[in-house]
Amino acid sequence: MSSILQVKDLKVSFRTSGGTVKAVRDISFDLERGKTLAIVGESGSGKSVTSKAILGILAGNSIVESGEIIYDGKDLLKISEEEMCKIRGNRISMIFQDPLSSLNPIVRIGKQITEAMLLKNKGNRRAAKRDFTNTLAVLAQNMKAAVGEAGSARVDELVKTFDAFTMEALKQETAYNAAYAAAEGLVSDIEDFLFLGGKNQKLDVRARLKEFSGKLKTVKNPYLSKSADAELERAQGTLNALASAYKTPAEGAPVLNTEIEGALNNLKALLTRLTAGTRPDFFGIGFYLYKNPGADLTAKPVDEVNRETLSYLADNFMNEFMTLAEKGLAYSAAEAVAKKQAALNALSDAEAFFSRGDYDKKSALVKAKEISAVVEGAIDRLELNKDPLAYTFRTSLVSGVEKYFTAVVKNPREEARFAKQTAKRDALIAKGKNVDWKVVPKTVYDLDELKAALPAVCARMKARFEENIAASGSVEFRARAEGLIAFFKAKASEAVYRVTKQMAKEKAIRLMEEVGIPEPRIRYTQYPFEFSGGMRQRIVIAIALAADPDILICDEPTTALDVTIQAQILELINRLKDERHLSVIFITHDLGVVANMADDIAVMYAGKIVEYGTADDIFYDPRHPYTWALLSSMPDLDTKEKLDAIPGTPPNMIYPPVGDAFADRNKYAMKIDFEMQPPEFAVSDTHWAATWLLHPDAPKVTPPAIITDRIERMKRRAEGGN
Ligand SMILES: Nc1ncnc2c1ncn2[C@@H]1O[C@H](COP(=O)(O)OP(=O)(O)OP(=O)(O)O)[C@@H](O)[C@H]1O
Ligand SMILES: [Mg+2]
Repeated sequence: MSSILQVKDLKVSFRTSGGTVKAVRDISFDLERGKTLAIVGESGSGKSVTSKAILGILAGNSIVESGEIIYDGKDLLKISEEEMCKIRGNRISMIFQDPLSSLNPIVRIGKQITEAMLLKNKGNRRAAKRDFTNTLAVLAQNMKAAVGEAGSARVDELVKTFDAFTMEALKQETAYNAAYAAAEGLVSDIEDFLFLGGKNQKLDVRARLKEFSGKLKTVKNPYLSKSADAELERAQGTLNALASAYKTPAEGAPVLNTEIEGALNNLKALLTRLTAGTRPDFFGIGFYLYKNPGADLTAKPVDEVNRETLSYLADNFMNEFMTLAEKGLAYSAAEAVAKKQAALNALSDAEAFFSRGDYDKKSALVKAKEISAVVEGAIDRLELNKDPLAYTFRTSLVSGVEKYFTAVVKNPREEARFAKQTAKRDALIAKGKNVDWKVVPKTVYDLDELKAALPAVCARMKARFEENIAASGSVEFRARAEGLIAFFKAKASEAVYRVTKQMAKEKAIRLMEEVGIPEPRIRYTQYPFEFSGGMRQRIVIAIALAADPDILICDEPTTALDVTIQAQILELINRLKDERHLSVIFITHDLGVVANMADDIAVMYAGKIVEYGTADDIFYDPRHPYTWALLSSMPDLDTKEKLDAIPGTPPNMIYPPVGDAFADRNKYAMKIDFEMQPPEFAVSDTHWAATWLLHPDAPKVTPPAIITDRIERMKRRAEGGN
């Protein structure tokens, strides 16, 4: 199992006029790839604060007191807002409770979905352009260094040409893509029309035929329709003629005649043929047109054009460019090897420094930053297979130093707490009192371990550099040059890959279909108020999916919906999770909602996770009285008994209780529950609960009958197989 997101010791507070609200108090969990983690708890338990912390959208008065949120090798709590923007909505998307809060009431649904796509595409184009330009600059620098003064002007010339023809001429690809998308769009428009016509709907046949004929113009592109322009012309004429000749049929008669059907089917076949053809290689075409402005390449079949322009590119540019690129790569690699060689000593020094251990925080941080700069300086920036060890060296070392010194301060406090409580307990026992509580075990960090991790980071890096140096003799620079060109090609393509409105529309319609919206082509142009609540939530899901995220956070996505619709939306989220390999965090106050969809469940109360386990653990073997309370208030089809509402109210989080926060409302509470925070008692490998009832000395308590009965029923049903 691999986790895609890790939350560690997250602690979030809010400053308010009444005091500091301790909303989330030290929670940790892992989201496994492709799994659903449900976070369940009453209102105010800190569920939304947790999810907002992940997305970096906490309110302005929030303080993240401690913690890490690790995603994709980065701590989301530490990265810049600019970096966070690339993740939020793109890699991690969120669905809120009230769909209307995510929708603009006066903008058509289609536009709201496509906007997200167009925006993302704009960001992608920019990032690709930046990658292209930066890498090309580093390459140019190394090529020049490799050939020396004499060849420098030629390198400049070649690089300029390369930049110009890829970026400029590949814009043709955009035009091609747009025409391609228009052809695909028209095919599905025609399918819709034939379908509706077959159902004898009230169609304005004349207007639609004219519309199709008009759209045929957008399909024309020299590389897409060159062999078929005459056919398209003819089809246009046929459609116009059919439109003029069309007579509204008698009431009840079919609105489409065989002539129209035939013409549309022919057109559909023609368009399908166009989009099935070979894709032009715009890299070659772009270069050819750059060198021969005004040349006409459209007379020949695409296969031939591809072949000819690519060989022209090789002869007139690429061979020379590749040879120089190889030299540049070799130069850059040799430089990096020399720097790695030099870094070995510095790394040994740093390793020795951290092994000696006679540093204070300041000198340790200075050393960590100094050695990080050396390591980063030895990275070969033209190596496309980025070595994560070198790229994250700085973060590992600096955060290791910080962790150690934090523990140095915190450990004595924890020791003092432990000593004080032990003394208190001993004193009570000495007085002959009956003490029914135990002192919470110490949670002190192992300083030796934290300290030993620091030289280990340096040693690991050193070993990696040694490997790199040893392997440096056998690098294939020709292959790497080819890889680099492929990288440039891909980035150039991305940089000019403009998603047109028409393309976005097609993708949006496919998405609407995917989330279960009937007749998406009609729905596309409607406003949010024309949709039911469930349909609106489907639209919000479509918007969240528009950017193809890895993680979907659903914060009470079905609370505003009635029960049958709720079930449909849950089913939809489940299906999308499987089909798109999403990892899902599902937040709800209703355990019943997650019964069939969660893999793991974290039960939250007053800013803490009080019980954690697989869905089976939580439903078949719940241990925390709060989980019992949640289960007892959960309706199910078989319960005849009256449901138990959870008595009392959650605690005031400005002054959170010292012991188990649920003690006040817990009829099983013992004295110690009011005095001391229970630790996490393991029930099994997958299951733990923070309740004193799991202490070996605690009295045996069985869960309420309403729960044990239900568990019995569930088990019988599972065994009975229905
Ligand atoms: N901006 C804020 N300022 C002050 N307190 C806040 C702020 N945001 C949240 N809180 C407090 O943090 C605690 C946790 O809130 P959170 O929104 O996470 O609850 P929740 O579990 O999502 O509940 P619900 O089911 O009602 O959505 C609550 O006590 C809430 O009052
Ligand atoms: Mg909430």
